[in-house]
This record gives sequence, C-alpha cells and structure tokens, in this order.
Amino acid sequence: MDKPLIGRHLVDSDGSLAEAPSEAPKVGILGSGDFARSLATRLVGSGFSVVVGSRNPKRTAGLFPSAAQVTFQEEAVGAPEVIFVAMFREHYSSLCGLGGQLAGKILVDVSNPSEQEHLQHRESNAEYLASLFPTCTVVKAFNVISAWNLQMGPRDGNKQVPICSDKSKAKRAVSAMVRAMGFTPVDMGSLASAREVEAMPLRLLPGWKVPALLGLGLFVFFYAYNFIRDVLQPYIQEGENKFYKLPVSVVNTTLPCVAYVLLSLVYLPGVLAAALQLRRGTKYSRFPDWLDHWLQHRKQIGLLSFFCAALHAIYSFCLPLRRSHRYSLVNLAVKQVLANKSHLWVEEEVWRMEIYLSLGVLALGTLSLLAVTSLPSIANSLNWREFSFVQSTLGFVALVLSTLHTLTYGWTRAFEESRYKFYLPPTFTLTLLVPCVVILAKGLFLLPCFHRRLAKIRRGWEKDGTVRFTLEMNHALAQKTSHL
Ligand SMILES: Cc1cc2nc3c(=O)[nH]c(=O)nc-3n(C[C@H](O)[C@H](O)[C@H](O)COP(=O)(O)OP(=O)(O)OC[C@H]3O[C@@H](n4cnc5c(N)ncnc54)[C@H](O)[C@@H]3O)c2cc1C
Ligand SMILES: NC(=O)c1ccc[n+]([C@@H]2O[C@H](COP(=O)([O-])OP(=O)(O)OC[C@H]3O[C@@H](n4cnc5c(N)ncnc54)[C@H](OP(=O)(O)O)[C@@H]3O)[C@@H](O)[C@H]2O)c1
Ligand code: HEM
Repeated sequence: MDKPLIGRHLVDSDGSLAEAPSEAPKVGILGSGDFARSLATRLVGSGFSVVVGSRNPKRTAGLFPSAAQVTFQEEAVGAPEVIFVAMFREHYSSLCGLGGQLAGKILVDVSNPSEQEHLQHRESNAEYLASLFPTCTVVKAFNVISAWNLQMGPRDGNKQVPICSDKSKAKRAVSAMVRAMGFTPVDMGSLASAREVEAMPLRLLPGWKVPALLGLGLFVFFYAYNFIRDVLQPYIQEGENKFYKLPVSVVNTTLPCVAYVLLSLVYLPGVLAAALQLRRGTKYSRFPDWLDHWLQHRKQIGLLSFFCAALHAIYSFCLPLRRSHRYSLVNLAVKQVLANKSHLWVEEEVWRMEIYLSLGVLALGTLSLLAVTSLPSIANSLNWREFSFVQSTLGFVALVLSTLHTLTYGWTRAFEESRYKFYLPPTFTLTLLVPCVVILAKGLFLLPCFHRRLAKIRRGWEKDGTVRFTLEMNHALAQKTSHL
C-alpha cells in the first residue's frame, strides 16, 4: 500500500477538513522570499506547523512569524510530507542535491513565469520541476494568489485556487490545505494543465480589448468633431477664442455621446440576432462569428457606457462651478440691465431643462441597477428571469430614457441656422441614428405577428415544420438533432 501523502488527520475520506488535529501537521517551504513569508504566516494562522528551508537561515529567520521554524534546506525537507517550492524556475536545479530526501513527497509549485519565460519554455514550470524530481509528486497551486492576498487572507481579492496534478491523492491533500487556509480549490485536472494555470496571472482583462478600443475610437471621433465644431470653427471664421472649452465643455459633450452610442451598441446585436432568427425561421443555426463575438462583449460595452455616463453626470454637475460660466452669467445680467429688462424667464427653456435633467438622472439610475447586477455576488443571488429582466428590460428602458434625455436636450437646435459658413450639425444629432434604429426595431418585434413567431422560434419551432427539443424527447435524441 502507498505511504499516505499527507497525515490522515488532515483530510477526511471525503476530502474535507477533519477535526482540529492534536498535533499540527508539518508543512515545508523552500525559499524565504516575499511569497514564502506570506505563505508561512497564513499556514501558521491556519493551524499548520511550518518549517522553512533557506540557504541562509540566520539572515532570514527574523522575517518569519516566531511560530515558524527557519533552518537550512536539508533540515527543512526531512519531516514534512508537503513541501512548497517558493522559488523561481531558474533556481529549481539548485535543489537537485536534495533529491534523495525529497523522494516520495509532494512538491507544490507556486511559481509564475514572466510573459517572456512563458513564451520561451514549451513545458510549464511545474512540469519542469516534475522532470527534475521524478520520485516526487508535483502539484501546481497558489500561483494565482499574490503574496499580499495570502497575507491578508481571502477577505480581500481572489478566493479561487486552481490546482492540477497527475496524482489525485496529492491533489486532494493540497485541496484540503487550500480549504483550511480559507481559499476555494478549483480542480484543473492533470499536470498538463499547469501551462494554462500559469498563463492565468499573465492575462490582462482579455475580454476588454475590443470594447476598450471601440470606446476609445468613439471618444476620439466625437472629441475631434466637437473640437472642430465648437472651438476651431469659431476661431477660424470669427476669431473667437474658445479654447478654454477643451478640458470640460468639449469633454462633457463627447462623453455622453460615447455613453449613448455604446449603450445602443449593447442592444443592437440582440435586435440583429432576432432579425436573423426571424429570417432563417430557426434558432438552430449559428450566428456569423462577428455577431457571436459582439453578443459576448455586451457586458463590457455596457459597463463602459455606464462609466462614461457616470463621468458625464459628474462633469455636468461641475459646469456651473467654472469661472467661464460665472463670467457668462454676470455678462448676461449686465446686458439685461443695459437693455432695461427686469425679469428673464423663458417658460419653454425652463421646462425643457427640467425635463432633460430629470430624464438624464433617471437613465443613469437605471443604468446603475444594471451595473450593480453585473457584479458576480449580486448576479448569483438572482434567478435567470430576474437577471434577464434587469439586463434586457430595464436596460432597454435606460436606452429609451437616454434617447428622451438627448431629444429634450437637443429640442429644436438641430433645425436652427448656423452662425458659421459651414453647417456642422449639433453632435447629439449624430448619436441618435443607432439608438433610434434599435428602439424602432424592438418596437417592431413587439407587434403580435413578429412577437409570436419569435417566441415560437426561441422555444424550438422551425420553419420547415420540425420541432426540436420537445418535452417528450429524450436527451440523446435532442443532442443529435441540435446543431446550434
Ligand atoms: C451597465 C451594464 C451592465 C451590464 N452587465 C451585463 C452582465 O453582467 N452580463 C451580461 O450578460 N450582460 C450585461 N450587460 C449587457 C446587456 O444588458 C445584456 O446582454 C442584455 O441581456 C441584452 O439584452 P437584449 O434584450 O438585447 O438581448 P438578450 O435578451 O440577451 O437576447 C435577445 C435574444 O437574442 C438571442 N441571443 C442573445 N445572445 C445569444 C447568444 N450568445 N447565442 C444565441 N442567441 C443569442 C436570444 O434568442 C435572445 O432571446 C450590461 C449592460 C449594461 C449597460
Ligand atoms: N510574490 C508574489 O506575490 C508571488 C505570487 C505568486 C507566485 N509567486 C511565486 O513564488 C516564487 C517566489 O517568489 P518571491 O516573490 O517570494 O521571490 P523572492 O522574494 O525573490 O524569493 C525567492 C527565494 O528563492 C530562494 N532561492 C533559492 N535558491 C536561490 C538562488 N539560487 N538564487 C536566488 N534565490 C534563491 C531565496 O531564498 P533563500 O535565500 O532563503 O534560499 C529567495 O528568497 C516565484 O516562483 C514566484 O513566481 C510569487
Ligand atoms: C445624472 C445624470 C445626467 C445628467 C445630470 C445629465 C446632464 C446633461 C447635461 C447638463 C447636458 C448638456 C451638456 C452641455 O451643455 O454640453 C447633457 C447632454 C447630453 N446627455 Fe446627459 N445627463 C445625465 C445622464 C445621461 C445619460 C445616462 C446619457 C446617455 C447614456 C446622457 C446622454 C446625453 C447626451 C447624448 C447629451 C447631448 C450631448 C451634446 O450633443 O451636447 N446623459 N446631459
């Protein structure tokens, strides 16, 4: 029979943590750097007895919790059955002299390669460690947890710890330690997955690349347009210096346009998907790749839209604080006195502003609900119907409110004559096209003839008369017929 990889008192038969052991299980750590120190602190705090192996224990002992024993590498690896290798890959070979003492033990590889190392080496760090110590069982774990996160505990930051190894017994033992330390183990399979696990901390918001570029592109476009229209044109044609508008006014015309167009781009792919389904008369054929990708990026596009809208609201509240605004008010008052006007009140303007501000606040409030429900902790507490009500129905309501806000803000300005030689339409008119198309198309699909057909298609009905996935169908048959 195999020697147990970790003391039986640590793990129950089902892999869960057993009762607090009378004698604390011993765990080894090779290396005395940042990660080793945080790991030792957390292990000691979780009831383990820790022995640290260093090349120079005298120098490093003071940096560890007093409960941890810091000694030479050779002494540290004798007793523990699980040893963490808290060193960089290039130093693994320096441990080869310990091969005999390490035989039969579990080595936990916590290392992260740099981006360059990841591209350079075909085999993962964990597989490399396993090749150096063929008599040991290597488990990849903890690499996604930062030293800071380890020290502070799972209250802050990531809780999940992906684990992989070729021996399930070793994986169970390390998983039990992960749980005992307050984290959540995630089984990633055999050690061959280590490369994928090591790539995880190298990712930088992969799903945000396209939405961020889209947002940036729209920002540059609208900013350039507003600059030409509101600053350059008055300067060239009338010699008016309006460059002061660049930091606040032009930005606050650009941001809402970006927010509004992005919001419409969240709901446009759903409309295109519905139109395709109606045309094809089935939901069982794949969408084109571009539409598929678009559908998958809606969350990021929506959150960017919310971010720009929130900035726009803050900028709007700052508009009256500007010195330029105060000068304009004083100048207006002086003009009024000179013209002998005592009471300036344009009823239509008053109502327009009251209404467009209120609609803007309502739109932002509704968007905030969408943003809040996109947090995983909140999303997990909602059932599918509730989530889809907030995201789909309230999201569409936010688009309608934003459109009304924009229209009441713009009012008749789109039809006013320009003071300048070239007519450049007000920016808000450029933004209205896509949202209006989305709203009209959604309205069209609500007509009973389209709505009924769409509902039937989404329940599995097909134009050619075959009904896929009826309740009576067994699972195997359903799988055969599906070509989604
Ligand atoms: C601030 C904010 C936060 C957001 N957060 C999230 C979020 O956390 N999660 C999220 O998913 N979205 C999020 N979104 C995006 C958006 O709200 C949702 O995607 C919303 O469900 C879209 O609604 P819809 O009615 O257009 O489309 P849906 O109701 O999703 O789809 C309409 C129809 O299109 C078809 N369809 C849609 N997608 C697919 C697909 N992939 N394959 C096949 N058919 C499909 C279906 O037939 C579906 O019935 C957020 C948006 C904003 C503004
Ligand atoms: N820091 C983090 O937040 C973090 C997060 C996840 C994963 N990791 C991984 O954890 C491992 C250690 O990271 P770290 O931040 O703790 O690094 P570090 O502070 O540089 O510590 C590395 C340790 O390796 C030991 N070592 C053994 N042989 C060595 C040699 N020949 N040359 C130099 N050092 C040698 C040293 O300890 P002795 O001098 O005592 O021998 C040294 O303290 C790395 O693989 C890293 O990718 C770190
Ligand atoms: C608290 C919420 C909001 C407030 C207080 C607010 C306020 C304003 C103000 C003051 C303006 C005029 C800006 C100017 O004079 O240059 C404006 C314009 C505009 N707003 Fe909002 N707004 C809010 C929310 C939103 C939201 C959620 C959207 C859309 C997602 C939006 C889209 C627009 C657009 C497109 C314009 C026209 C920009 C232009 O062409 O000049 N607003 N808003």
